[in-house]
Amino acid sequence: MSTTFQLDTSTSRANPTPAPMKRLTVPKIRARKTDGETGEPLVMLTAYTARQAQLLDAHCDLLLVGDSLGQVIYGLPSTIPVTLDMMANHAAAVVRGSYHAVVVVDMPFGSYEGSREQAFDSAARLLKDSNAAAVKLEGGEAMAETVAFLSQRGIPVMGHIGLTPQAVNALGGYGARGRSDAEADKILADARALDEAGAFAVVVEGVVEPIAIAVTEALSCPTIGIGASARCDGQVLVTEDMLGMFERVPRFVKRYENIAETISQTVARYADEVRSRSFPSSDQTYQPKS
Ligand code: KIV
Repeated sequence: MSTTFQLDTSTSRANPTPAPMKRLTVPKIRARKTDGETGEPLVMLTAYTARQAQLLDAHCDLLLVGDSLGQVIYGLPSTIPVTLDMMANHAAAVVRGSYHAVVVVDMPFGSYEGSREQAFDSAARLLKDSNAAAVKLEGGEAMAETVAFLSQRGIPVMGHIGLTPQAVNALGGYGARGRSDAEADKILADARALDEAGAFAVVVEGVVEPIAIAVTEALSCPTIGIGASARCDGQVLVTEDMLGMFERVPRFVKRYENIAETISQTVARYADEVRSRSFPSSDQTYQPKS
């Protein structure tokens, strides 16, 4: 489906044509898995800006304002320096740019691990400032009490286990998890703890496939895989990775396009035309009315 947008400059709202679909809700996403079965897998992509959200919205069930924006948008070395302000601002833009998908916003490192009250304050701020529907946080058993605290107070929580990038310093890198029996058992225990605590979905990142399948079979809520398995209840990728914005991507990313090459070639044409004074032409310049 092709959608065009007209910007209402007084509200910054982009009005889509044709008229938008009704926005999905967290309970609808959760209900896509019933009695351990998910019919159509859930589609999630990251989005950080309003225009990106407009382009992705109709195709996705969920848009994730991931703290991966630290590296992708801000050029930071990891997600560790990402702040609540950054997340709130980008989440607000993504909500303004979308009408259909459930918008989930990542809680940045340091904004929720201290206590369940700290987590509530941070999550409430993110949802108030952005109008997003849910938060995502990293961690399993250690975060289960916090997930229950938030869920019981009206804040839907998506969990994130396996390779958890905010723990890069503790994990020692971004390698796949679950290769040893001890690690596999821990991932399964983490997943179960989040499910029991009331998470409405759990991202399973960078784990060996049999563990991803075992987790998916064990949980009542949907799993969303990234570097996990096609048997998860849904999939997520960083949009810039799958569009081919970067030369280097993790092994689990499929590059559907080579946008970096398209941009580079297009900008080279622009630069040539500026230097040869063939841009702007009469089509792009104003002349006095005769
Ligand atoms: O921050 C992010 O983009 C994520 C996804 C990769 C799951 O957490």
